Amino acid sequence: TKLKYALQKSEAGEREQADQLEQTLKKLQLTQTQLIQSEKMSSLGQLVAGIAHEINNPINFIYANIKYADNYANELMYLIKLYQKSCNPSPEIEEESEKIDLEFILEDLPQLLKSMEVGTERIYEIVKSLRNFSRLDEAEMKPVNIHEGIDSTLLILNNRLAPKVGKQINVIQEYGDLPKIYCYVSQLNQVFMNILVNGIDALEEAIAKDKFSESNEQQIPTIKIQTKVVDKNLVTITISDNGMGIKEQVRNKIFDPFFTTKPVGQGTGIGLAISYQIIVDKHGGRIFCNSQEGKGTEFIIEIPIQNNTRKFKTLYN
Ligand SMILES: Nc1ncnc2c1ncn2[C@@H]1O[C@H](COP(=O)(O)OP(=O)(O)OP(=O)(O)O)[C@@H](O)[C@H]1O
Ligand SMILES: [Mg+2]
Repeated sequence: TKLKYALQKSEAGEREQADQLEQTLKKLQLTQTQLIQSEKMSSLGQLVAGIAHEINNPINFIYANIKYADNYANELMYLIKLYQKSCNPSPEIEEESEKIDLEFILEDLPQLLKSMEVGTERIYEIVKSLRNFSRLDEAEMKPVNIHEGIDSTLLILNNRLAPKVGKQINVIQEYGDLPKIYCYVSQLNQVFMNILVNGIDALEEAIAKDKFSESNEQQIPTIKIQTKVVDKNLVTITISDNGMGIKEQVRNKIFDPFFTTKPVGQGTGIGLAISYQIIVDKHGGRIFCNSQEGKGTEFIIEIPIQNNTRKFKTLYN
């Protein structure tokens, strides 16, 4: 029995060591994830902010001057009409008017200016969104309208929603009447970005696998974003897609650092690990995933509206 006791003791010791090792490994992996992500995001954020700033100046002077151009054009056109009425054009003027198709110019110019105005307004919105997305300056917790963050992220991803393999991804936004949420904006935007990109990836895969074939026409590739207040201090943001879903065997691994099912070079497997960290550790919230293989996936994020700025313990401390 003495031997047995000694054996048991050493076994327990070993198990404890193994546990400790595992903890250390987890801690290390998490630190590594954070490093990669923060490096990735800070360079992306800086790039985006830089470009936004560069575009902002020229777009501002186009935007500001286009109204004057429109006014001047209207005045000049009116003047031409007055000339036409009060004096008979000389043959030379007649010929020139015909050559340049004056009638058409008079009709087309206002429309042309209008479409330029719409175009600059659109660029203006994009620039605003880019700045909104990076928000590098805002490192502390602040009350914000998170719908703005979601919209900016969607705008940045717009190009990936456009038809590529022949199908447009449909986005449905069902926003509730949310108060301002006390949070780290740019971090929360990262979470939206990570989850939306995953949804788009899943839909692209589904499109490539002919999930939305003609026989299945009523079903279109869709990402749905719902927000609502569920309690006096709690909101939920649900992001769902009708893509390929997640295999049951891997469903409990998706939040692990470096877990990915994507080909090398496409996924590093840190999107969800970092999102978990941001939501749970930094904001005292929760994040869940429901998925059905072949049907689709939904991520539910819960975050408190008021955060009493208490420090949250990090996961493995
Ligand atoms: N909406 C989704 N539909 C299907 N599978 C998903 C979805 N979201 C996540 N997954 C699965 O979870 C895995 C982990 O996701 P995560 O975002 O952490 O990493 P990744 O997308 O593979 O790579 P990264 O985000 O670092 O570029 C994915 O590889 C994928 O298998
Ligand atoms: Mg991802």
